Amino acid sequence: MAANPIAEGSAAALQDELDAINAKITKQGSLVRELKKASANADDIASAVEALRVLKIDAESLRKKKEELDPTAQFNRRSFDELILRKMFIVPSFEIHGGVKGLFDLGPPACALKAAMVDVWRKHFILAESMLEMECTCLTPEVVLKTSGHVDRFTDLMVKDPVSGECFRADKLLEDAIDELIEANPNMPTSEREGHLRIQIQADAFSPSELDEQLVKYGCKAPSGEAYGPSFPFNLMFKTSIGPEGTAVGYLRPETAQGLFVNFRRLLDANAQKMPFAAAQIGLGFRNEIAPRSGLLRVREFCMGEIEHFVNPADKSHPNFSSVASKELVLFGRDDQLGSGKTKLITVGEAVASGLVNNETLAYFMARTQLFMERIGMDPARLRFRQHLTTEMAHYACDCWDLEIQSSYGWVECVGHADRACYDLDVHSKATKTPMVATLKLDEPKEIEIAKLKLDRKSLGKTFKTDQRVVASALEALAENWADFEPIATALETEGKAIVDGFEVTNEMVTWTKAMKSVHEIKFTPSVIEPSFGMGRILYSLLEHCFYQRNADEQRCVMKFKPAVAPQKCAVLPISSGEEVNAVVDEIAAELMESDLATRVDKSTASLGRRYARSDEVGVPFAVTVDFDTLTDGTVTLRERDSTVQIRLPKSDVTRVVFDFVHGRFSWEEATAKYPVVQVKEED
Ligand code: ATP
Ligand code: GLY
Repeated sequence: MAANPIAEGSAAALQDELDAINAKITKQGSLVRELKKASANADDIASAVEALRVLKIDAESLRKKKEELDPTAQFNRRSFDELILRKMFIVPSFEIHGGVKGLFDLGPPACALKAAMVDVWRKHFILAESMLEMECTCLTPEVVLKTSGHVDRFTDLMVKDPVSGECFRADKLLEDAIDELIEANPNMPTSEREGHLRIQIQADAFSPSELDEQLVKYGCKAPSGEAYGPSFPFNLMFKTSIGPEGTAVGYLRPETAQGLFVNFRRLLDANAQKMPFAAAQIGLGFRNEIAPRSGLLRVREFCMGEIEHFVNPADKSHPNFSSVASKELVLFGRDDQLGSGKTKLITVGEAVASGLVNNETLAYFMARTQLFMERIGMDPARLRFRQHLTTEMAHYACDCWDLEIQSSYGWVECVGHADRACYDLDVHSKATKTPMVATLKLDEPKEIEIAKLKLDRKSLGKTFKTDQRVVASALEALAENWADFEPIATALETEGKAIVDGFEVTNEMVTWTKAMKSVHEIKFTPSVIEPSFGMGRILYSLLEHCFYQRNADEQRCVMKFKPAVAPQKCAVLPISSGEEVNAVVDEIAAELMESDLATRVDKSTASLGRRYARSDEVGVPFAVTVDFDTLTDGTVTLRERDSTVQIRLPKSDVTRVVFDFVHGRFSWEEATAKYPVVQVKEED
């Protein structure tokens, strides 16, 4: 893998140098102050001041150098935004009615880009690993989301401007305040900066009172100038009712995952009871974000791609782990976030062996995500995996790594990788009294410790009436494994009662003995490893990573989409408006489209250079030009977007060559070796 500047290269080295100089500036600054205070000799003061000035100049030039290395620093937002809107990649929804915050429509090039991206995603994950794909409904009854914990806990902390009532997401206010503070104080000592960054990283893990305290500490004021009101949890789900009576509460799903969990038993059957296996789903998620911003990065309706990989909690190895073990990833573990502030470039194999990533399956998916990102053309130098702090993890998770993509908005989570343990299957199983278990057949029978129960049916019946059977089977299920029954046994022994599935069981109802049993299979509730992709965030980041200006010319914007995901694969242009030339253009375009290669024909009277520039703006990787020679010798030119180099080839070769480029079976280097390169100067 190419060296990653974030982990080991010059940006990090420059930051180290900058930190060292800043430390010297602090020291020199205090020396100057001391000299002045002690009314020292004027020459000594002057030379100390001069040394301080030189250090500051050095620091400034290092900062500039670091900025130049940072791809986001060269990003021309105005020009990018203008292109995105003008070419109708992304437009505000309901624009002529004034628009709605957090809702955006995808125009034709973005639709095609997203379709191609999702197609690669399906091939890379679903097809390559025989995952079971589902399409579940967006409308979800309350009981499902109450069970999953979303009704009670899917919240962000909100504060209000006490004068206007305007709402804000409290953790984001704190994050912004810290960014501003650091930006305004470029010479802040490293240790102080790191202290602020540590607080920033924990922003979304603070309790309401902790967050209120931090907002005060950082001097955050509402737009009215008053202090914000106290922060309180705001549930992000859109509530609705299902059915005409309006009595059945429902929600638009905030994630697609629950649909897969509640179908677990059928999915396991569909997979012939074999474990491990994965189910996947691509579809919409809805979140009533408090303060949507940053374009497509924080919206209220977005496409997600979620994979639920079901695995035995006692064995989270992955059968294909060796295929990714040597892949290097940039990892930002929780200790580094709270300590050095630096990432590590490390192989997936090492990450698991050292315990940095909890298990093979989680790490396997992180590597596959990295490969997916590279496959669609994301800049690998702007990808990193950040581990959740223990206080930050979702209510169900036991280890989480976010794939963050750097864009002009900073590092943004685009794919969550969570080990959700058995949480989801457990809660749905308990709430519905539906066993959600898988079976591991053993090669050799195994002796296990169990509890042998004696149930007093009379006593159970008297207390639980119609629920008697539910309680009995819950006890019997626990008794299958001594480790599961032990807490119940302890409670009964010490307190005379125990809670089993919400029912209070007493000593009169059950007696037990510990025993051994020879078993041929083991039943277990699977753990779930979940990669969760936000397609909109990925799409937006890809647009930024692919955007550049040819020769730093604002008039020549280019989207360097990889041929596999480019919205259109080839442009076909006539050199003149002559009928004969146009007929060949139509013939080539028809042939390309018959091979499923989206094609753009531009017969306008603009100069060829202008027309190439237009197709560059929407990222068309190749352009065929039909000229007068075509009419005599049947050859055309084929231009590659980024190099602008052209080759001359028979028109009958065009479709196959472009098809092979798009499917990665033929490279531009091979094409320039095979066909003559023609020298053409592009004029506007
Ligand atoms: P954040 O902390 O940024 O709000 P999250 O941790 O709530 O995100 P997850 O619940 O892990 O996000 O959701 C999975 C993925 O869905 C995210 O990685 C992201 O790509 C995407 N996503 C989440 N919220 C939004 C949103 N409001 N707009 C667009 N994409 C989103
Ligand atoms: N192939 C013709 C040109 O680019 O000028």
